[in-house]
Formats: sequence, C-alpha cells, structure tokens
Amino acid sequence: MRALVITPGVADSARLEEIPEPSPEQGSVLVETLAVGVCGTDREILAGEYGAAPPGENHLVLGHESLGRVVSAPMSSGLLPGALVVGIVRRPDPVPCPNCAVGEWDMCRNGQYTEHGIKELHGFCRERFRIEPDRVIELDARLGGAGVLVEPASVVAKAWEHIERIGQRSRWTPQRVLVTGAGPIGLLAAMMGVQRGLEVHVLDRVTEGPKPDLVRDLGATYHIGVVAKACANADIVLECTGVAQLVFDVMQCTAHNGIVCLTGISSGGRKLEADIAALNRAMVLENDVVFGTVNANRRHYEAAATALCKADRRWLDRLISRRAPLESWQDALVHQPNDVKTVIELKANDDKQSAHFLSDSVSVRNPLPEAPGHTGG
Ligand code: BGC
Repeated sequence: MRALVITPGVADSARLEEIPEPSPEQGSVLVETLAVGVCGTDREILAGEYGAAPPGENHLVLGHESLGRVVSAPMSSGLLPGALVVGIVRRPDPVPCPNCAVGEWDMCRNGQYTEHGIKELHGFCRERFRIEPDRVIELDARLGGAGVLVEPASVVAKAWEHIERIGQRSRWTPQRVLVTGAGPIGLLAAMMGVQRGLEVHVLDRVTEGPKPDLVRDLGATYHIGVVAKACANADIVLECTGVAQLVFDVMQCTAHNGIVCLTGISSGGRKLEADIAALNRAMVLENDVVFGTVNANRRHYEAAATALCKADRRWLDRLISRRAPLESWQDALVHQPNDVKTVIELKANDDKQSAHFLSDSVSVRNPLPEAPGHTGG
C-alpha cells in the first residue's frame, strides 16, 4: 500500500512509498484512511527540524490529523465496519508517569510519550493502518469529511478546558477574547469562543483571502494591526502564532485577572528586548496567568467532536480550503497564500450522510459590519 514517508532530520525527504500492510500486532482495528490534514508541525518535520522515526527504523510515515473508516474491528470494541474514526495522536509513556497512568498523556511528565506521525510512531498518511480500539475516537457520521478537523480541534478544546479551569480560581465572568492568528487553530479557537457566548476578536496580518470572512461569518471581529488596538483588556487571549513579538504584546493587553494561553510553537532564534520587571509588576498586580498547552487526551477529542458537530458545516468546509489527492502530495505540502487547512485525500469519503447534517447544524450568526482597517476579502 502507498504511504507518505520522510527521513527524520533530512530536509525535503518526503516521498510516496510502497510499504507492507499493517500487521495485526499493531492493533485489532483495521482502518482505511480517508484523509489527513497538514499543519505547521508537518512542515517542520518536512524541513528536517522535528520528528523521530520508530526505534530501529530510519523513516517515518507522516500524518497525525486523521480521518478514517473502520474496515474490521473486534465485536468487543463496539466499532462497526464503516464507522468514521480519528486516531489519537499521542500514546502514554511506558513508565507510566503519574499523568499518563490516568489517561492524561497530554500532560506527560517525563517526555517519553510517543506520537503518531511525529515522534517514534508511524503516522496516518498511509492507505490503511491498524490501531487498538482505545486509541480511536468514533465520530458522528454526519460530521463527514469535516471529521479531519477533530485533531486540531482537540488541541483547542484542551486549551479552552484549561482556560476555564484556571478561571475557576476566583469569581470569573469573562467577556472579551482575543485570538492571535487566523490559521486553523486560531479559527477553531474563535469558533469555540463564540460557542461559549463570548465577544471574540481575531488578529491576523492578511487583508485578503478567506480568513477575514471566516472570522466575520462566525460572528467574531477581524482585525489587522497591533494587539493594543485589536483588543485592549481581553479577559482571555489564545495566542496561536508563536511569533515572539505577539507573545510579548498579548501578555500586556489583558484585563485584570487575565488569562493568556500560548498554543503556538515558536521556531526559536528571535531575540526581543523586553522590560521583564515591568511585565512582572503588571502580572503580579493584576493576577494575570500565562500558560502553555500542547496535545490532547481522549476527553478533549470528544469535546472537539461535539464542538464541530454544533458548528455550521458549511463554515467547516470553508476552513478546509484545499483538498489534494495523495498523488498530488507535493502540492498539498506547499503552503499557498489562500490556504487555511489543506487536506490530503487518500480515498473519496462517501459524504452523503453529511448533507443531512446541514439541516441540523447551528446556523452562523449574522456577520458583523466590516472591521475598521480591513481592505478586502
Ligand atoms: C499536534 C500535537 C502534538 C504537537 C507536538 C501538534 O501539531 O497537533 O498533537 O502534541 O504537535 O508534537
């Protein structure tokens, strides 16, 4: 069968290869892959800057954002052939650490976790894979092709869960949210903010392409320019770019008791001069919190699937701005100006059930008037 593989540590080593069918010891559930999403982590792996092959091997099958259909599964798993599933990216460390021991592998303490398509476990960009039943999430069939968004949405669902847990340290009535970056993570973060009834502002640098409209069609406000103008006194900030200047700026734009959640993985090497003493003073005097978050556990995948089911399916379909067949993997891996989320399709998904989804979904709010400074869609 065909698989998209790379040699970790070697830039531009991606290639389509014939690999053996998955062997039964890899898991009792056989899944046929429908689609795999491409994200910034994949591009870092492609650049040879991140990623590790399974022990004893020198190649890694790419792909951690999956959508597949069950081909066969044991009766005891409750999974029927044809069920729509997503593979969980991270596996707990074998020790296990206290967190992995209770299914909180996203909070692994010793770094010995493994991740499909990223760290020491083959990914999902292959025509079929095997996996254990407790390593997949079954989706509502009506989610159809949008199910490939569950993994990125799981990362965002975890971010929101942790924001809310931190908020519970005192009486907390958040109203304003700032999201920096209108990529897939930022847009899904904004979507979940709107679903919570919050006033959501999204800051990005583009004035053209699908992002401004995607933000406005959520009922959120799109901004370009500087953080202070986009949203002063934010109760919550989700920083989704990893850009050093933005990370520093958002720490200074919060309301009292503000929470800044960092989700972007910076590439490093960018030095800023900063008045850390002044930042410290402001954070202490205002009870501010800045925290980082990565990955997701089963609970977050389930929350993500629920949030996506509540969203407008047409909006989710616009978020997936480009679908390329496996044969065109080279095109899919190159970021184009109007891309939001690019998906590699391994098999056409029979999406007929999802047409029915359109009538069930929550409709989009009326778009807000155009944000000042916006120069076109
Ligand atoms: C994935 C996470 C993973 C992280 C670090 C992200 O792109 O979505 O699941 O933990 O990369 O490897």
